[in-house]
Amino acid sequence: MVLLHGTSRINDRGHLEIGGCDTVELAKRFGTPLYVFDEALLRETCREFHTAFRKTGLRYQVAYASKAFCTQAMCRLVDEEGLHLDVVSAGELHTALTAGFPPEKIHMHGNNKSREELTYALEAGIGGFVLDNFHELNLLAELTERMGRRPSVLLRLTPGVEAHTHEYIQTGQQDTKFGFDLASGQADEAAHRLTADQNLNWVGIHCHIGSQIFETEGFAIAVDRMMEFYAKAVNQWGADLRVLNVGGGFGIRYVEEDRPLPVRVYIEAIADRVKAAAHRLGVEVPEVWVEPGRRIAGPAGTTLYTVGARKEIPGVRRYISVDGGMADNPRPIIYQARYEAIIANRAREPVQELAAVAGRYCETGDMLIWDTPLARSAPGDILAVFGTGAYTYSMASNYNRTPRPAVVFAREGRADLVVRRETLDDLIRCDEIPARMKKKEGYPVS
Ligand code: LLP
Repeated sequence: MVLLHGTSRINDRGHLEIGGCDTVELAKRFGTPLYVFDEALLRETCREFHTAFRKTGLRYQVAYASKAFCTQAMCRLVDEEGLHLDVVSAGELHTALTAGFPPEKIHMHGNNKSREELTYALEAGIGGFVLDNFHELNLLAELTERMGRRPSVLLRLTPGVEAHTHEYIQTGQQDTKFGFDLASGQADEAAHRLTADQNLNWVGIHCHIGSQIFETEGFAIAVDRMMEFYAKAVNQWGADLRVLNVGGGFGIRYVEEDRPLPVRVYIEAIADRVKAAAHRLGVEVPEVWVEPGRRIAGPAGTTLYTVGARKEIPGVRRYISVDGGMADNPRPIIYQARYEAIIANRAREPVQELAAVAGRYCETGDMLIWDTPLARSAPGDILAVFGTGAYTYSMASNYNRTPRPAVVFAREGRADLVVRRETLDDLIRCDEIPARMKKKEGYPVS
């Protein structure tokens, strides 16, 4: 059963409606493929994080992980909702700054931040950096010394817990490119460097244990390990810390089997564990920071496509092709991600067939959804795929030289364009033809 999120509903015409806007009308007005965001749901989820934290009585910070979906309008919304922002590149930072996002509420992540990116971020006066490795520590120490800045930094640690959906695994040492390893002593060494550094204001520690997590135990174990390090840094090494950042990873429902927890359940579990550990270890309860991406952007996004070709292979499978696919949503081909869909202009019609929804790109693997129950559709119908707000537009490409789709925010019957559709000319805007290859006037064309 397809579950409608937020303000999505079926209207009197039997059409899917989002934010009070008829999706069939949106498809006509803006074209397809089209990413439609339910603005009220985006805002509601931001508020859920605030509400959950307020109940814990802790000092807290919620930073939206902009890698999930980053545009200027999204940065505005996140700012209006009182969230901070996590960026991982000069591009995300530039998007935020040009949208007027307060630099002091931005922090920067990444396992290979370049000198240029660090310089840009320092010049902009961002709130802080999450330090990932010794190379970056040296680079940042050198730049801050030269530029006379003293930014706040968190140390990214790998606590040896990895969590995805219902499973989490504990390992002594985590085999990942990110962060300073706790088990091998790398983290201790980084801490000693930071306590001695005059130009870096070491304020806390960070970890991120995975994505699309449906249980709280992985977070709880990570908190225990992180707090032990935190207490050692404060009590033994005299570090002046105040922040424990436990990253993102809060799961969402893509298909019926997915059972994410309410936001408050994750936050309560984390907060309880932090309080208990602080008490046990004799340190003040730190501020707790989180960085949700998918949970905020994912459920609020729906992609609209126009149905085209149909191919029936008797006794084997029925394919329906749409006008988008792996370039606007690479998650199925990369992660075998699953989605639910309906025919938006036949939303009240009964399910009549199982169809495999194929993308339009020249790859056999370009399938959006395998064998999903749908109303019987005809070319020109609109297919709506749900839960596509996170890691779709932000991971989109121009594969097969297709323009990237437009994005709209729908709210109370009004749809505003927040990213215009690319044109064919946009596709060639960075192309150059070397002079020696330029076609000369009157050159014979064979
Ligand atoms: N903080 C850090 C340090 C992260 O690395 C990530 C995601 C987040 C926060 C946000 O995690 P979220 O709340 O969205 O789970 N492209 C993949 C997801 C990659 C996530 C990478 N890091 C996907 O489409 O599933």
